[in-house]
Amino acid sequence: MGSVGAKEVPVLLTADQRRIDGRRLDELRPLKITAGALKQADGSAFVEWGLNKVMAAVYGPREVHPRHLQVNDKAIVQCRYNMAAFSVDERKRPGLDRRSQEISKVIAEAFESVIFAEEYPRTSIDVYIEVLQANAGTRCAGVVAASVALADAGIPMVDLLPSVAVGKIDGHIALDLKKEEDNFGEADLPMALVPQSGRLVLLQMEGHMTRDELSQALDLGVSGCRQIYTVMKSALRERYDAGGVARTEVAA
Ligand code: CDP
Repeated sequence: MGSVGAKEVPVLLTADQRRIDGRRLDELRPLKITAGALKQADGSAFVEWGLNKVMAAVYGPREVHPRHLQVNDKAIVQCRYNMAAFSVDERKRPGLDRRSQEISKVIAEAFESVIFAEEYPRTSIDVYIEVLQANAGTRCAGVVAASVALADAGIPMVDLLPSVAVGKIDGHIALDLKKEEDNFGEADLPMALVPQSGRLVLLQMEGHMTRDELSQALDLGVSGCRQIYTVMKSALRERYDAGGVARTEVAA
């Protein structure tokens, strides 16, 4: 442990550029996706990504509740991201706080931009994301899980949405931050990509990066998203090959 002021900071990067968990700067944490993990939902997916465990369930297109939200010429996309009280080290107060409202909003907007909503007028497509265990990057794990769940539900979309956070640790740009890197690093940049077109539909940033670092981070994030995209597609392919629950594992 080094120290900055009164704060104890773990060493995030060794001299030969290995991270706390031994990863290189451009490596993802191990990612497993189980498509169709829930029986009751129209579509579902369970994502285990590093120490994150995230379940997504999709219902719809179905009747809009509350009714006044109904739109005549398209479906609305409603998203609820929630962190379980037991998902973090210090028990989180149950219920929707400002952070989960913000995350729910940006994720709903990302999906609105890829779902062919005009095919289902006056309906709602409801996406539930439950974080059961959190270790940084949960909004990205939520987007990945929800995306596979939407495809599993048969919702027509332009493409799946792979998502990952890139950050800056000890002055270096790093792919897929884990919790200590997120807490003690200098920046965090979650993103979600439409792989076919290269369009970013979610991009947030906390901390500071120079213009060059931002450009490097975007390139690294896009290449990370492309690896994640492969795992997402395999999970869906296995689901339909198996005709039931399927799990795809790719050790990063
Ligand atoms: O999870 P994500 O990186 O998308 O969001 P964040 O707001 O940057 O949170 C980073 C991490 O901090 C979470 O994944 C949790 O591990 C942790 N956290 C927590 O321990 N308690 C909270 N109330 C919120 C986040």
